[in-house]
Order: sequence, then structure tokens, then C-alpha cells
Amino acid sequence: MFEKILSFFSNDIGMDLGTANTLVYLKGKGIVLREPSVVAIDRNTRKVLAVGNEAKQMIGKTPSSIIPVRPLRNGVIADFEVTHQMIKYFIQKVNTGKSLLRPRIVIGIPSGITEVEKRAVHESAQQAGAREVYLIEEPMAAAIGAELPISEPSASMICDIGGGTTEIAVISLGGIVVAKSVDIAGDEMDEVIIQYFRRKYNLVIGEATAEEVKVKIGSVFPLKEEMTMEVKGRDQSKGLPKTVTVTSEEIRQALMEPIALIIDAIKQVLEETPPELSADLVDRGMVLAGGGSLLRGICELLRQETELPVRRAADPLSCVALGCGKYLELLDKVKTFSAFYK
Ligand SMILES: Nc1ncnc2c1ncn2[C@@H]1O[C@H](COP(=O)(O)OP(=O)(O)OP(=O)(O)O)[C@@H](O)[C@H]1O
Ligand SMILES: [Mg+2]
Repeated sequence: MFEKILSFFSNDIGMDLGTANTLVYLKGKGIVLREPSVVAIDRNTRKVLAVGNEAKQMIGKTPSSIIPVRPLRNGVIADFEVTHQMIKYFIQKVNTGKSLLRPRIVIGIPSGITEVEKRAVHESAQQAGAREVYLIEEPMAAAIGAELPISEPSASMICDIGGGTTEIAVISLGGIVVAKSVDIAGDEMDEVIIQYFRRKYNLVIGEATAEEVKVKIGSVFPLKEEMTMEVKGRDQSKGLPKTVTVTSEEIRQALMEPIALIIDAIKQVLEETPPELSADLVDRGMVLAGGGSLLRGICELLRQETELPVRRAADPLSCVALGCGKYLELLDKVKTFSAFYK
């Protein structure tokens, strides 16, 4: 009861610490912040100059003394100090200090991160003013956020295709039964698009352009109407600006390599799933989350490859943050419940 009363006075926070985007959920308010996980730092002094949206706009356009850093590349913490600064910045941005109590924070973390990395995230949140910190694995948070019936004694399957990692999990009775995390996701798709332009057109393009091509005309299954797009970059041999026109078929061809690796990982999880739970999946199927699930034709392709029903979550980019938020509410219930039985 005491905890419940306390919760009225604090702004509890749920955070999806993604490799591409960080989202913050404020209890009672929903998602209040959605910014890229990017920090711009001064190369010489290592001082943080900008975080989030402001820092992302600097990518590829900064003078050499400012470097934009994505501290969580490939689902691991590549830079502890910068990650720390970023977590602190986002928490302080939403926690304006109006509430009487320090917040409780639930953070969704990539399932592949080490104990040392977990401790680092924990400490960063504490230093940013958290009263209590809970870490929850991303696929679990995504499943809760996608409203899958995870606590039932039957299987739910989630596949979260993010920026740095694709996380696949089969969940039953509130726990992860089989899971796999591979570092093939949105970033890798951008990378193969960059390579495609270099090989086929001798054209050098940046990460932001590659991402734009993927979002605008990217697909993994034949489209009803194929598309074309003009892409600008630098000619590799002449060094001059150049424009080429590409088709969605070409980009689909380039995307097949990373997509095949994601399909392999999904199939491995299905092979390791106990037979009783496999049987549930025949009816329940798989739910897709993460920005990568917005790729055109991905549900169709995965349906064809796995012979399971496949659907995209209602709000795939928000699943993990919503799941962290729901977990906060659950914490209250569990605490009240256990206090009752003390
Ligand atoms: N419409 C779209 N089509 C294809 N890809 C998209 C689309 N919209 C966003 N993406 C990609 O989704 C990725 C970001 O997704 P998301 O925000 O789920 O990642 P994240 O949670 O930060 O990463 P991770 O879960 O790996 O830590 C980026 O690579 C982005 O380019
Ligand atoms: Mg994610």
C-alpha cells in the first residue's frame, strides 16, 4: 500500500534503450520522448555537445572536431561513458523535478548484453536520479507491449527487427523459453544498400541516404507496383556529385542477403522450440516488432518461409517502450499483492 501511495508522488519511467532510437514512457502519460540514440561529442575535449535529434542531424555533416557517436552499436554498449551521458540526458529531460520523489525506472535492454554492461546501465540510471532500477530484456518488453498473452501456459512468438539487432523469442508462462539475438537488422540493411550502389553504380552514398532508400522503396516481396527513386551521391572515380535512378527490384535484391540471415535465425528458434509449444505457434503464429518490421512485404515473406501466421504489431516502433510502461504498472500490482500477503 505504501508503495502505491508513493507512486502517486513520483513520475515513474519506462525506457527503450534502442541502438537506433530511445523512447521514454512516463507513467500516466504514455510515450513522451522518441529520439535517435546519437550523441555528438567534441573530439578533443570529449565533451557532449548534443544528444538525440539534434545530434543525428549532425551525422556526416560535421566539421572534423565534432563526432556523432551511436554508443549502442550492434546491440552492445560500444562506449560506456557516452551511453551514460545519453541515459542521464534523456531521463533528466523528462524528469523535470516537479514530483516529490525520485522515479522508478524500467529499462529495456538488448538480450545479448553482458553483466558488466547491465551494471553500467543500472548505474547510469541511478546517477540520473532513479530511486529503483529494473532491467527487462527487449523481446520480453516487446511481447508485453504488443499485448501478447505472455503469462498463459501457451507459446507466444515475437521477432523484433531493430536497428542493431534482431531478437527472436518464444515466451510461455511469463518467461523466455527459447531466444536468439543476431546483429543483423536495419543498420545492416543500410550497409548492403551502400555496398550495392558502390558496386553497381560506382556511387558513394552515406548512411542517411541508404536509410532513406530503404524506407522509401525497400521491400522483400514483389510489389503490386514496383517503384523507382533518384539517389544522389559522389562518383567514386571522378569524385563529382552524381544522380542515379534505382528500382525497388534492385534494392530488394540487395536486401535479400541480410533478410536470409534473419530467416535462418527465426528457423533456428523454431527448431529449438519444444513440440508442445510449436503446436501453439501453428495457430498463434509470430508477431513482428521494431522498425525493420515496417519493411514492405516482410509479413508475406515470413509467412511463406515459416508457414506460420505472421502479423505486425499495432505500433511496432513503440512495443518495447509500451512494454516497459506496462511492466511499471505490473510492479505496483505485484508489490501491493505481496504486501497483502506479508
Ligand atoms: N518504414 C521502414 N522500413 C524499413 N525500415 C525502417 C522503417 N522505419 C524505420 N526503419 C528502420 O528501423 C530501425 C530502427 O528500428 P527501432 O527503433 O525498432 O530500433 P532500435 O530499437 O533502436 O534498435 P535495437 O532494437 O536493435 O536496439 C532503423 O534501422 C530504421 O532504418
Ligand atoms: Mg529495439
